[in-house]
Amino acid sequence: METNWTTFRELLLPEHNRRRGVEAELRRAIREGRLAPGTRLPSSRDLAQQLGIARGTVTSAYAQLIGEGYLTARRGSGTTVASLGPESAERTPEPAERWRYNLRPGLPALSAFPRAEWVAAHRAALAELPDDDLSYPDPAGYSGLRKELADYLARVRGVVARDVVITNGSADALSLLARMLKGSIAVEEPSHFGAVSMLASHGMRTVPIPVDDHGIRVDLLSTTDCSAVLVTSAHQFPLGVVLHPERRRALVEWAQSRDALIIEDDYDAEHRYDRPALGALQSLAPEHVVYQGSTSKVLAPAMRLAWLVVPDRLRDTVVDRKRLDDLGSATIPQAALAHLIRTGGYDRHLRRTRALYRKRRDALLNAFADHLPSWRPIGVAAGLHVVMRLPDGTDDLALQQELASRGVNAMALANFYAGEPSYPGLVLGYAALSPDRLRDAVREIHCAAGV
Ligand SMILES: Cc1ncc(COP(=O)(O)O)c(C=O)c1O
Repeated sequence: METNWTTFRELLLPEHNRRRGVEAELRRAIREGRLAPGTRLPSSRDLAQQLGIARGTVTSAYAQLIGEGYLTARRGSGTTVASLGPESAERTPEPAERWRYNLRPGLPALSAFPRAEWVAAHRAALAELPDDDLSYPDPAGYSGLRKELADYLARVRGVVARDVVITNGSADALSLLARMLKGSIAVEEPSHFGAVSMLASHGMRTVPIPVDDHGIRVDLLSTTDCSAVLVTSAHQFPLGVVLHPERRRALVEWAQSRDALIIEDDYDAEHRYDRPALGALQSLAPEHVVYQGSTSKVLAPAMRLAWLVVPDRLRDTVVDRKRLDDLGSATIPQAALAHLIRTGGYDRHLRRTRALYRKRRDALLNAFADHLPSWRPIGVAAGLHVVMRLPDGTDDLALQQELASRGVNAMALANFYAGEPSYPGLVLGYAALSPDRLRDAVREIHCAAGV
């Protein structure tokens, strides 16, 4: 059954939902019967264009819904709405449980979350917290955590931080910045499509700048009208390259000559396996770099605790924005995190998980070397994911769909490009699965690839 696109867009995805809720809206429409079994969905490219969102957002929604059993994908016949029995139509599936192997990039080992230490940190923090600190918070964040983080970031990442602003995840941080900056912002190509969609949702024009083996092509920034750039310089997301020292200097010179702002998203620099990561770019030009960090990769995304170090001249504007948004983030978890850092629990957890992730990464790479030796791993020295480069001509989006139908959540590299990808690949998160499960997942990928 074909669907008329205009109708689909207007009936299912009202304006306010288009950017954020494609996956949720499709799920709801199928459950409520507004999208009938057998209905054929448009290609991810078409739907992304229709809705004015990144293609990766649509392919990731399709993959999720295929994994949950709402959609089916078959080579040659595209993506269609699956037939759900009356009982299953009423049930709310648990997405994470529906994947046999969830290789979504960006997830740490959730089973390694230091539950006992976190409870102890909460108890200790609450015992110490003066009653006054239970009132409305300072919108910049709890002073005890800001101080701990300033010391921690100077020690671990070389960040020059006179002060730190606490946010609800990097997502909140990026939203604050987007609304403050407006205009055009350069983003890496490929990049995190969630971040790009978020910037666009606040009215920013995102300008993709290619990434090569040395990181973002800084020389191309001067050909744009951008007054800001978002970079993952320590470990490019998703390709994993490190920004070359000469490009770091050139980037800073570009920002200084144009009085532009560099947003340094330092999302996983603590997870480097061969040697310590290069220090943060921020220390080269604290007046032109906004440094952004998060607990999402170290502890868990559910923490929603992140931070910004902003140039002195912008600090009051950012804090004002935060106050107008939500009066500041919750104090008690911040006090617990301050306790965890102060007492060494954060560093201990990082040492434990670094060893764990290294073993998992090695298991994944060895399994690929055994089963798919012609696939080339990229960006393996750090982080919680690798990119497997596929033989030229492979349709990585088709492979993603085939894998989803087998219960494997493995994202195609094409999702992370606004334009044409340089080569096909899979972006595979390995931190959340045991070595045995990773080996099984690679066996399944081998079967799906039909090599
Ligand atoms: C490139 C990048 N930046 C930042 C984050 C963390 O975002 P948040 O702190 O909102 O969880 C992620 C998580 O997936 C990411 O991949």
